[in-house]
This record gives sequence, structure tokens and C-alpha cells, in this order.
Amino acid sequence: MAPPPAAAEQIETTTTTAIHEEDDGQVVNPWEVSAKDGGKIDYDKLIDRFGCQRLDHALIQRVEHLTSCPAHVFLRRGVFFAHRDFAEILDAYERGDNFYLYTGRGPSSEALHLGHLIPFMFTKYLQDVFKVPLVIQLTDDEKFLWKNLTVEECQRLARENAKDIIACGFDISKTFIFADFNYVGGAFYKNMVEVAKRVTYNQAVGIFGFTGEDHIGKVSFPPVQAVPSFPSSFPHLFSGKENLRCLIPCAIDQDPYFRMTRDVAPKLGYHKPALIESLFFPALQGETGKMSASDPNSAIYVTDSAKDIKNKVNKHAFSGGQDSIEKHRQLGANLEVDIPVKYLSFFLEDDAELEHIKKEYGAGRMLTGEVKQRLIQVLTELVERHRRARAAVTDEMVDAFMAVRPLPHMFG
Ligand code: TYM
Ligand code: TRP
Repeated sequence: MAPPPAAAEQIETTTTTAIHEEDDGQVVNPWEVSAKDGGKIDYDKLIDRFGCQRLDHALIQRVEHLTSCPAHVFLRRGVFFAHRDFAEILDAYERGDNFYLYTGRGPSSEALHLGHLIPFMFTKYLQDVFKVPLVIQLTDDEKFLWKNLTVEECQRLARENAKDIIACGFDISKTFIFADFNYVGGAFYKNMVEVAKRVTYNQAVGIFGFTGEDHIGKVSFPPVQAVPSFPSSFPHLFSGKENLRCLIPCAIDQDPYFRMTRDVAPKLGYHKPALIESLFFPALQGETGKMSASDPNSAIYVTDSAKDIKNKVNKHAFSGGQDSIEKHRQLGANLEVDIPVKYLSFFLEDDAELEHIKKEYGAGRMLTGEVKQRLIQVLTELVERHRRARAAVTDEMVDAFMAVRPLPHMFG
């Protein structure tokens, strides 16, 4: 029997579904992530509602096979858990066709938090193992439109954030970073108006939840984030390669932009961009939303000192341990809600050690304090490594990554 049409295709072409307003009480869109009544985000429901696919074990094995490299820890642990058309990217790659990567950052704060690092760490891995070019969009215009910041401040933050992004280790011979206020124009702008003409106001309301009170700057923005998915937006990189496929790594909050993009792409003669989407790195207080840049005690920043990290983890990380040692020894920790274990599952690379901690802590033989201790070590090392890498990024390097230039060795 033929399988039913993928939900993805149904939703992408549905014009009026109000995807922002959830019947299940959770809100996930590019601007807000919150679970129902202080519960956890239900990612299965999100997959259903958005119409993406779960990233299964077979696909991860294909990645290992095609790249001859072990899968990244974010793949092994299900941090990247959903996709759209990722199998098509792998099929094309297997046939010897290339693709490019596209990701981005909305520069709304001075420093990135650990959640922001996730797509960039993962994108670096993809660039390394597939040996493909990458474009990184800094949406300084988006943050001007959504936040109470001046144009100049958004531009300054974009450059500051570019340093953190470069510190993730991207290969300058394969990477183009651009900020919208500087780059938008020419071929990129032509693509924007092509997209804008093909999305009605009602569709935008359905996808993004705009209301009559929102200024028209917001309504006009989505094409800006859409068009880096089309190779012709980068004539200095992909001229003559208009058929190149695009793969977008991001957290699942960005999905609405790309549902819209995928709807329009075929009408303009492009492949639909493929997506590989992650969970949210949760706030210290628990898994009800994503780590937020606006509450300093909810997040660990790449600029936090060893002392900050220690204090935040010890004081604010929600524990699934029992409230007395006797009870803990008897009942063990509730790993489902325990933030230290959750954080370790993102950043402790040693599978065996992670399993050991879960087993011992879950059985009550290990105490919260010991798990927090190990987490503090892991995060301090990560943040230290990042700090050293960022300190080595000069203004000249930022200019070099952001220069509009061909990348002659971007494949291979
Ligand atoms: P921004 O700056 O909000 O987030 C940058 C990237 O980080 C992801 N992210 C997270 N991932 C895991 N855990 C979290 N707690 C967390 N918080 C944020 C976001 O999904 C994103 O991938 N409008 C975008 C910029 C953009 C973009 C793109 C992003 C433009 N084009 C293409 C992805 C792909 C933004 O403001 O991201
Ligand atoms: N819109 C994203 C935000 O507000 C930033 C962004 C732009 C982005 N392009 C992207 C994120 C591509 C992921 C992939 O956070």
C-alpha cells in the first residue's frame, strides 16, 4: 500500500494553519519557546505538528558510512532529532553531487550561551566530514525589528557574535559569514522579492502568528532568512551552480521560516532546502523552554568565569535527586527531570562514563553533588577552550570571513 503523503508536504502547502497557536498548550516559534504549564517540551508533538521527520538510527549509520567518520555525539545522543529531506541530501552526496550548508544567528546579545553553540558546533562537524561550503547569516536586521536596539548596536553585536562563531573552528577557505545590513542587495534582494511575491499575508499570519498590531517590518522579514537557502543568492560562490542543494542545521524553533521557504522553493526552480534540527538546550531551572539570553541565571554563557559556572550549576541547576540522603539512597534520582544529567548528555563525550553516571545516580549510589561536580568540570573545560579560541580571533579575521569573495577550494 502506498504510504500516506508526508505530513510535511501537507503542512507546507497549508495556507492558513495557525501553527503558532497550539492546541496542546506549548508554543515554539523563532521568538518564543515554552512548554505547557511548566511541563517539558513534547518533541514528538512538535514533529507531528510541524510535519518534519524523526532522524532515525538508519540515517545516522548512513552518515557514518558516507563520511567514514564516527557520528557526532549530538547525532548519537539524539540532540539533532528531526529533519526534512536529509535522506535526499545523503542520496545526492552518494551520487557525487555536492551541497552547501546554511545556518545563522540573530545577534541580540553580547555573548552566546551554550544553547547557541550547539548548531555551530554541529555545523562545524558537518563541514569537516562532508567537506562542503557554508554560509552563515547574521540577522542584524531581524534583531533591530524585534528588539529595542539601534541599527548600529545590532551591527556591532553581529561582529561580536561573528567572533564567537569563528571560534568554533570553521574553515575560512569554505566559509562565508555575512550580516544582512551589509550584504542584502543585488541577487540576494532579487530573490527576496521573488519569495515575497509568492507568500500571502494570510500565509505569513498562519506560519508566524503576526497580528494586526505587529509593524510591517516583521511581516516583511521572513524572505531575508529564506533566500540564503538558494544558491543564486551568493553569485560570488555558486554562480553556475543554481541546482546545488542546501542543508540547514538549526534548533527546531527556526522551522517556521523554512516551512515557508520550502513551500516557495520549487516555484522558483530550486530544491527545497533540507533541514537537520536539534532539541533545545534547556534552562538551568528545567526543561520547560530553551535557555534564554534574557535571564542570566537561566543560562551559562561562553563568557562565564569558572566561578560563575560553579555557582550557577550548584545554585540553579534543577536536580532530580531526592531531598534527603536517606531518601536518595533508597529511591535514586529522577533522571527525567535532572538538569545536570541532561547537560552531561549534550557535552560529556564519553558514552561509557555517561551510562555509568546515569546508572549510579539513578540507583541512588551517586549523589547530586557528585554529578554537579563532574558537570562543572566538563562545562568549565568547554568554556575555557572557547574563550582561548575566541581571544585568538582578530578583527582582520572577522573581515576575512566576511569578505565577499570566491571560495575556490570549497568542495573537498
Ligand atoms: P538565534 O540567534 O536565536 O539562534 C542561533 C541558533 O541557535 C539555535 N538555538 C538553540 N539551540 C539549542 N538550544 C537552545 N537553547 C538554542 N537557542 C537558540 C537557533 O535555533 C539557531 O539555530 N533568526 C535566526 C538567525 C538565522 C538562522 C538562519 C538560524 C538566520 N538564518 C538559518 C538558523 C538557520 C536567529 O536569530 O537565531
Ligand atoms: N532567526 C534566527 C533567530 O532569531 C537567526 C537565524 C537566521 C538562523 N538565519 C538562520 C538560525 C539560519 C538558524 C539557521 O534566532
